[in-house]
Amino acid sequence: MCGIIGIASNKSVTSNIINSLKKLEYRGYDSAGIATIVNGNIDEKKCTGRVDNLEKILFKNPSKGLLGIGHVRWATHGIPSQVNAHPHSSEEVSVVHNGIIENSNELKKKLEQSGYKFKSQTDTEVITFLLTDFLKEFDLVEAINKTLKTLNGSFALGILFKKYDNIVVGARRGSPLAVGYGPQENYLGSDSYALKSMTNKITYLEDGEVCIISNNKVDFYNSKNIKINKKILTLSNDKYTAEKGDYKDFMSKEINEQNITAKNCVKEYVDQLRKDINLYNFPIQPKDIQKIILIGCGTAYHSCITAKYWFEELTNIPIEIDIASEFRYRKIKLSKKNLYIFVSQSGETADTFAALDLCKKNKVKTCSVVNAVESSIARSSDFVLPIHAGPEIGVASTKAFIGQMLVLYILAIKISQIRKEISETEYEKKIIDLKKLPDLIKKTLNYCQNNIPTIAKDFLKAKGSMFLGRGLSFPIALEGALKLKELSYLHAEGYPAGEMKHGPLALIEEGLPVVILAPKDRYFEKTISNMQEVIARGGKVILITNETKKIISENIRFTLEMPESNENLTPFLMTIPLQLLAYHVALLKNCDIDKPRNLAKSVTVE
Ligand code: AGP
Repeated sequence: MCGIIGIASNKSVTSNIINSLKKLEYRGYDSAGIATIVNGNIDEKKCTGRVDNLEKILFKNPSKGLLGIGHVRWATHGIPSQVNAHPHSSEEVSVVHNGIIENSNELKKKLEQSGYKFKSQTDTEVITFLLTDFLKEFDLVEAINKTLKTLNGSFALGILFKKYDNIVVGARRGSPLAVGYGPQENYLGSDSYALKSMTNKITYLEDGEVCIISNNKVDFYNSKNIKINKKILTLSNDKYTAEKGDYKDFMSKEINEQNITAKNCVKEYVDQLRKDINLYNFPIQPKDIQKIILIGCGTAYHSCITAKYWFEELTNIPIEIDIASEFRYRKIKLSKKNLYIFVSQSGETADTFAALDLCKKNKVKTCSVVNAVESSIARSSDFVLPIHAGPEIGVASTKAFIGQMLVLYILAIKISQIRKEISETEYEKKIIDLKKLPDLIKKTLNYCQNNIPTIAKDFLKAKGSMFLGRGLSFPIALEGALKLKELSYLHAEGYPAGEMKHGPLALIEEGLPVVILAPKDRYFEKTISNMQEVIARGGKVILITNETKKIISENIRFTLEMPESNENLTPFLMTIPLQLLAYHVALLKNCDIDKPRNLAKSVTVE
């Protein structure tokens, strides 16, 4: 998951490329680079680390040029280093790439036999030399076409040519690529977020398509080399700014705007006057659905687990859940009587997109729950349910998780009503409860702000930690452990509380922090018994509950008393202290909050 940008202009492109790369850093940040055409030659500059480092190099040694490409890298082939940073250039060609070339080793051997000298360990460099080679015999479009046909795997490419010094070329297969239109300049980029500061007119490439952009023209070609016309979209103006504002980092902003996320999401789907949920033209008759399969990765997958409990309880439809990277390779029988729901904040996650593609090829019904409505997954689904959370920049997902769960919960309630699994009175009550959720989230945020920093200290020296819950709290325990891992790099494990006696109880020792999620629900007593088992073995329990009348308080390190709520709303409230806990532990460890090591926001490679 890297980020690429390309600009063809009638003025110097360097500052716009650098600004766009800074917006793309959430896609990868272990190295960065730029190439421009200056006095008819390719001028390449690159470095390890952040775009700021590249900016310092350019400050000392400016790159001019009216044409340019840029790249931020998340390493797949070859360590993060200057030589492995993109662009990869020959005398004739310079390339930036997002994706994985699966036959790069065999191509590299052939090209080395033809005399090409590789400098890097990357798969991308084979693209540079293939283009260079084909250009010796063929014209531009033919050389590009032959190169792309030789490659196996995925790519979004930005390409400069010394010989054609008024154009930037883009090509897409499996990794996202967009074209933007500006005043006497045109752009290509990994996503609309990178282009938004320069234009709101966007065209998305589909797999197999190539674009050739100059400062006053954009041509598109399909996989058969035929020139095609493509739609220009006008980007929606997000209700939110994708800026930090007064917050120290994006993550604290995104955690603290979760009540607004919930409010906007409810407003989009719930007609408060008519007390009805509006799914617009949902293309699948809920009465006809025989099974629902929920698919996602990471945090998005955790929202699928949570939703499983809601769908089972409310709709009486059999539910399956699966991790996208597993689903896509299973020998699974897909059925036209099922509904396949894909959950993805970015809408570009390669595994989730591949799982969706498998379903599309089998012509079964697909629906996606996404934040980026212009994303590949959204554009490929039969139906899209946006979460309306606004841009989420922090690599660790927070408000998008609340939005994903909320849309899935709203969907479950609506399907339940249509299938008459709940009465109209119950339906109306659930809608009234939904309206209360934003205030409950706000109350929880205010309560946790003062309590969590103290608790965070307990995790610093611990050799690990556990997060336990039952029912709807089990996926929240998984999410809490994931947040702590990805933000503070400390080991943490989420587990079903009832499973502890089957082995993991052996991990409990004096002083080990154990977070117990025990809301006022049907599992409460059982979870408290599990808590006692942990305390008896020296575990340091942080209890998160909204049932404070029945708690034995001794030997509990902290009790967080959450607001009372309908049982089905507890996942939203229980998530918040866990997000803040991970945040404060990471702060104490001086970790990079918005860009944790080794990760990237949108995993567009397998
Ligand atoms: C969440 O904190 C992680 N950054 C990661 O697990 C993420 O949820 C996962 O990669 C799926 O991303 P998506 O929602 O954009 O598909």
